[in-house]
Order: sequence, then structure tokens, then C-alpha cells
Amino acid sequence: MSKLIEAKHLRRIYDDSGVQTVALDDVSLEIDRGEFVAIMGPSGSGKSTLLHILAMLDKQTSGSYKFDGKAVDTYSEDEIAKVRNKKAGFVFQAFNLLPRTTVLDNVELPLLYSNIPENKWRDMALEAVKIVHLEHRLDHESNQLSGGEKQRVAIARALINEPEIIFADEPTGNLDTKASHGLMEIIKELNEEGRTIIVITHEEEIARYAKRIIRLRDGKLEEDRVIKK
Ligand SMILES: Nc1ncnc2c1ncn2[C@@H]1O[C@H](COP(=O)(O)OP(=O)(O)O)[C@@H](O)[C@H]1O
Ligand SMILES: [Mg+2]
Repeated sequence: MSKLIEAKHLRRIYDDSGVQTVALDDVSLEIDRGEFVAIMGPSGSGKSTLLHILAMLDKQTSGSYKFDGKAVDTYSEDEIAKVRNKKAGFVFQAFNLLPRTTVLDNVELPLLYSNIPENKWRDMALEAVKIVHLEHRLDHESNQLSGGEKQRVAIARALINEPEIIFADEPTGNLDTKASHGLMEIIKELNEEGRTIIVITHEEEIARYAKRIIRLRDGKLEEDRVIKK
């Protein structure tokens, strides 16, 4: 398998008007294409900070980060945005759907920022909606959906650009147990089709869907192990 992510000695220090917080402290890791990784750790341990750097939404204070073989800090902001749009999909704990907007329109949203001709959008959105099994909800507005359905819309939206990797920050954080497992089954299928998945969770039973667990504590990598199935 080939390397998709190569991070060396990542540090991230937040500076809030002179108050410094070391959110990540010398974290090194590599992730191959096709892996399914869970990032775990107590609240405040640096999980979101790490995910944001890996997803190119934030930059490390020091250390190096290569995505797909290229050092991210050599890219311009425009190039980063392009790579992010083409190769990465995001799912967050808060569903971040547009209210009073249909499932289909929410799923099409990322295409507004793509070069894909508008006459292809509907079919692409339908395809993505099928993957998350929401064909029966196409014209529902997001506020008429359950939490589990909202998060599936968020996944469909993340899938629309056929991303190579999906980054999810506590995607089951607002879901009940049944909806959480339903969502993780979908994420697992995406991985089985070859997509790389990185998901933050603090629930052991959610992490068990992954094939590898990375644990952070106080910004440091505490454990990195493969889960035996
Ligand atoms: N924008 C920010 N400004 C200042 N401190 C921050 C910021 N974001 C996170 N932190 C701090 O960095 C540490 C790690 O945060 P975070 O990565 O969000 O942890 P986690 O996702 O594991 O809960 C925490 O101490 C948090 O308070
Ligand atoms: Mg977090």
C-alpha cells in the first residue's frame, strides 16, 4: 500500500493573546491508502487539532506534513483548497447542513465550488444519496430529518467529490446508539470499497470499527496499534 499521510514531529501551539497552549507535541505518524484509523483520547488531548492539520484545514507550528507525497506547507492557499476539495471529505459532530434545504441540495453543495458542469450535479447527488441509503428522503428538508439521517446526508455530501480520504470528527457524537452503529456501518463499507478513513471518537465501541487506533494524551501520541479482528 502507498503512503497517503506522512507527518513528522508535528507541534501545534495556539497563541491566544500571549497565552500559549501546546495542543500537539511531537506527533509523528504515517497512514497508507485504504487504512481505517480511529483517533482516541480524552477531551483536550489534541484530536481535533491533529485532524485539522491532516485535513489541511490548519497548519502545524513546526514539524512536517506530507499529503499524497507533497509537503503541504509548500502549497499556496489556493492549491490547498483545490487538493482539499478534490481529495478530502469532511464530517463533523454538528451536522452543518443548510436548514430548510432539501437533502439533494445539501448533498450538491460542494459541487458549487467545483468545475463539474451543473447538468451532472443531480445524478452525482443521487448516487451519493444511494450510498447512504436515503433515497426515500431526497426532497425532505434537513430540519425534517432525524440525527442519524442528518449525519448520513453529511456523509453523502462528503462523498460527492469522490474523495480519496474521509475525515470525521466525532461523527456519532450527537447520535443515539442505534444511529451511531448505522453510521459506522456505512463508514465501514466506504473503507471496504478502498477509501481511507480517519475518524475521531471517544467511544471504544465506535473505535472498534477501525483497523488501527491512535491514542493521544496531552498532545502526545500515547499509543498506535493495529486492531486484531
Ligand atoms: N483555537 C484555539 N485556541 C486556543 N486553544 C485551543 C484552540 N483549539 C484548541 N485549543 C486547545 O488545544 C488543546 C487541544 O484541543 P483539541 O485539539 O480541540 O482537543 P480534542 O479534540 O482532543 O478535545 C486544548 O487544550 C484546547 O483547549
Ligand atoms: Mg475535538
